[in-house]
Amino acid sequence: MPAIVLTGSNRGIGLELSRQLSTSFPSTGHVTIFAGVRGLNGDIGDLQSLASSTSDKVTIKIVECNLSSTSSIKSFASKIIESLGNDKVDLLINNAGINAVPDQTSLTIGEGDLQEHMMVNVMGPATLTSALSSHLAPNGVVVNLTSGLGSCGKAVIKCTTYSISKAAVNMLTVHQASDLGDKKVRVICMDPGWVKTRMGGEGAIITAEESVSGILKVVNSVKDKKDGGELGKAKFFQYDGEEVPW
Ligand SMILES: NC(=O)c1ccc[n+]([C@@H]2O[C@H](COP(=O)([O-])OP(=O)(O)OC[C@H]3O[C@@H](n4cnc5c(N)ncnc54)[C@H](OP(=O)(O)O)[C@@H]3O)[C@@H](O)[C@H]2O)c1
Repeated sequence: MPAIVLTGSNRGIGLELSRQLSTSFPSTGHVTIFAGVRGLNGDIGDLQSLASSTSDKVTIKIVECNLSSTSSIKSFASKIIESLGNDKVDLLINNAGINAVPDQTSLTIGEGDLQEHMMVNVMGPATLTSALSSHLAPNGVVVNLTSGLGSCGKAVIKCTTYSISKAAVNMLTVHQASDLGDKKVRVICMDPGWVKTRMGGEGAIITAEESVSGILKVVNSVKDKKDGGELGKAKFFQYDGEEVPW
């Protein structure tokens, strides 16, 4: 039975991923979505409503996964593994992220701020992927949500602290693709575009619905091996399927 794991699933792009995955993930069997949230006492009302209204072909299990805490991530992974039984994870989306100090420049960057961004945006996806690595399905896909700001080839120079962490998650993706290639797992990073969420703000240009429908088209194409490239080699996509320069 297909299983999907997602972090930061309670709002923004993560909530929309939960919504669209619960209605359109191509599967003949029952789908379980392990929906990670930073805290079970947080802003999770919309996700709880979604979880209680899915069809009987889909179960959304809401589980704590705080990416600032290695023990929380490991406990999330253990709960998933216990619940999987003999099943495997077909799709892991490392979505949760922070951009907490967008005004910092390379001249004002704070040590603690960079550590926090590296912990949540880089170590989080690294720890969760590692903890689930033996339970990823052959032909499974791992998606790391990144940003065009993490591309050295796009030359959009802002949000220093965040962009450094997203450049790091891009390189993490390259290594994960190499390390998971022999398990036939593909790893990609995905720029969702500039999206109207709390992080993207009202001035953003696309809705979460548009972004996520594009992201899932790319994911399905990678899953069908139409566009995943060579096993062992990462790809960097934008939500509309364009490849992004590293
Ligand atoms: N929006 C954009 O324009 C844009 C552009 C490029 C890339 N991205 C990337 O897309 C992803 C999703 O962004 P978004 O726009 O949906 O952001 P968002 O609206 O700010 O939502 C962020 C999500 O991440 C969760 N989160 C934050 N810190 C966490 C932690 N320590 N542990 C677990 N979860 C945590 C939040 O949970 P809480 O509700 O508990 O805070 C929330 O669910 C991020 O990786 C972001 O960098 C977004």
